[in-house]
Amino acid sequence: MENFTFKNATKIIFGKDTENQVGKEAAAYGSRILLHYGGGSIRKYGLYDKVMRSLKDAGLNVIELGGVQPNPRLELARKGIDICRKEKVDFIVAVGGGSVIDSAKTIGAGVPYSGDVWDFYAGKAVVEKVIPVGVVLTIPASGSESSSSAVITNKDGLYKKGFISEMMRPAFAILNPEITYTLPAYQTACGAADIMAHIMERYFTTVKNVDLTDGLCEAALKTIIKNAPAALKEPENYAARAEIMWTGAIAHNDLLSTGRIGDWGSHKIEMEISGLYDLAHGAGLAVIFPAWMKYVYRQDMERFARFAVKVWNRDPDFYDIDKVALAGIESLENFFKQIGLPVTLKEANIPYDRLEEMAGKCTQRGPIGSFARLETDDVLEILKMAK
Ligand code: NZQ
Ligand code: ZN
Repeated sequence: MENFTFKNATKIIFGKDTENQVGKEAAAYGSRILLHYGGGSIRKYGLYDKVMRSLKDAGLNVIELGGVQPNPRLELARKGIDICRKEKVDFIVAVGGGSVIDSAKTIGAGVPYSGDVWDFYAGKAVVEKVIPVGVVLTIPASGSESSSSAVITNKDGLYKKGFISEMMRPAFAILNPEITYTLPAYQTACGAADIMAHIMERYFTTVKNVDLTDGLCEAALKTIIKNAPAALKEPENYAARAEIMWTGAIAHNDLLSTGRIGDWGSHKIEMEISGLYDLAHGAGLAVIFPAWMKYVYRQDMERFARFAVKVWNRDPDFYDIDKVALAGIESLENFFKQIGLPVTLKEANIPYDRLEEMAGKCTQRGPIGSFARLETDDVLEILKMAK
């Protein structure tokens, strides 16, 4: 096990009707609030009214900025920074999924910074101060509700990039599984794939003697494998929605990385796809992760065989570990298909003419991944295997 420091300061408020607590929670941090949200789902399903009522009841001044698109855009975050400065906003409430939360985090980091907020993403500056963010989560997927990272798309150059700062972990996150009943099946499935990917990025490590977190990762994966199909079959199944929502937060709050070194190669490759083609992040991961696995599994076949046996209940075979390892990858791929996700670039409607460009951009700052170090040619191979 590696040395580690673990601190996740996000307060989690979980369960039915908890969105009504947002005003009280936000009031502990400020009085002038930016309410940030996405395209329309929160108005359509009545969440907007509840959140607004709670904020007003707490005596808060609310300034609004909606319109965050999936794969959130830098331009809107810049607009949010201007609004916050002009209106002297001291706290941001993000009501939505990863896209809204990441846009809110970007605004929060950008307001006190004298340069352009893209500097953080370009690696030219580090965050020293933020306007804090509170979250009402509407889709379990990104884990951004308690993560230290944000991901944004800069259409100038078609860059989708992320950066990490401990200061960006939200102050609180309100998780009511009932809010997720209205998710389209495709978004539920994309969320499940992203949650699984966050766990697998950590699970596939070269660090030895990490029994506790190995077991936690396996349990977390099995929870999604059991509950995602249940939620798809019965969207208002509270028990299934609750399991998915809590697993989504645990998958990316860094508990599962304690003592380990994660890989993150698949995420980096996927970001090139969703950055260029505006594909949902989870769908891109369903395409890339199995291809990545087929490319790298020989580096530690025993770990892949363990994944097959412990997570997917495939039969062990000590005389043919290769076969067992491949069976686990096959199970993952079948699961993604079963929940309605694409598993090839073709199925995701991604053309093949820019694979080299994506591989180049992805490795611009050097090789990616840790379980497997991937150079540009390796990434290109993986993209070709995903065809
Ligand atoms: O915009 P609205 O109308 O709200 O619709 C959204 C959006 O179209 C809809 N939706 C959300 N909650 C709903 C709902 N529809 C009905 N009922 C509800 N309760 O779902 C669509 C997708 O929303 P989005 O926020 O884009 O989804 P997700 O949470 O998957 O976020 C994806 C973004 O997060 C980034 C991804 O790269 C991507 O940009 N990630 C952020 C991470 C982080 N900050 O730690 C880590 C992740 O690996 C990921 O990269
Ligand atoms: Zn992800």
